[in-house]
Amino acid sequence: MDTFLTADDLAKTLRQDVREGLTATPKTLPPKWFYDERGSALFEEITRLEEYYPTRREREILIARAADIAAITGARTLLELGAGSGEKTRLLLDALSGTLRAYVPVDVSGDFLADAAAGIAADHPDLAVRSVAADYEQHLHLLPGGERRLIAFLGGTIGNMLPAARIGFLGGLRATMSDGDFLLLGADLVKDAARLVPAYDDAAGITAEFNRNVLHVINRELGADFDPAAFEHVAVWDDGDEWIEMRLRSVRDQDVRVGALDLEVSFREGEEMRTEVSAKFRRDRLETELGAAGLELAEFWTDEAGDFSLSLARPAG
Ligand code: AVJ
Repeated sequence: MDTFLTADDLAKTLRQDVREGLTATPKTLPPKWFYDERGSALFEEITRLEEYYPTRREREILIARAADIAAITGARTLLELGAGSGEKTRLLLDALSGTLRAYVPVDVSGDFLADAAAGIAADHPDLAVRSVAADYEQHLHLLPGGERRLIAFLGGTIGNMLPAARIGFLGGLRATMSDGDFLLLGADLVKDAARLVPAYDDAAGITAEFNRNVLHVINRELGADFDPAAFEHVAVWDDGDEWIEMRLRSVRDQDVRVGALDLEVSFREGEEMRTEVSAKFRRDRLETELGAAGLELAEFWTDEAGDFSLSLARPAG
């Protein structure tokens, strides 16, 4: 495993993010801190909910297009950013088996990577599996090079970046790519708010628990005394920005102490703190943003219903 991001670096970033976010007006917390063990399990549960369509739709596209992806890219190395769900990875690895020599999962969590990589290596004995513990917004330039790389960034996680961060990320990615490399990008599409909102506010309350989990993480990691039950889950569709925003709303006036930061923060009753944006895209905006980063679309696929998209892009010629 290559480590560009240690547990210490992560802890430091968490302290910075929480101090910045809780002292800002309005308060915010970045979504990357949802995913401790419990948060990752809750997210897995979300992907199985009736209301949450993106995972199923993306899988549908991958199943339909995996052979095309293999034929077009002839990839020798698969780099997966945010090496998450084993199932999508397996689909790609199987489809690419004719040309693929190496698999490089990239994630912020070293422990998580080690487990995932061991499973893949056991099933694909001829594949060189080289995990990288890195933050894909900071360490793109450090990722292993080579010819004919396919960089997969799936799940719609690009939507969790604010527009400026997204532009920076795509530009940074382009800068690491050469002719023959491809980007496979999963992005959720704009649709009726009547479907979008329930996808982020399910009837069983799993997404609400997932949202509040960031408070559990801060309590544990930074010795804070958030009462998660005193925060309500809110999901709103922002029609102007075309993103879903998740927030936590304080149900009463309350003071919270974050021990490790020696920080006291007050919440008013009804005050809302943003914990995630999940941007939804249209083909033309994706094409424009990729183009601005120096990438051109080779293919743009959606599922039958037109709910989710997979873009295959390459350095513009
Ligand atoms: C898979 C990280 C993109 O934004 O849809 C699920 C995370 N948040 N429910 C998304 C998430 C609320 C998810 N990502």
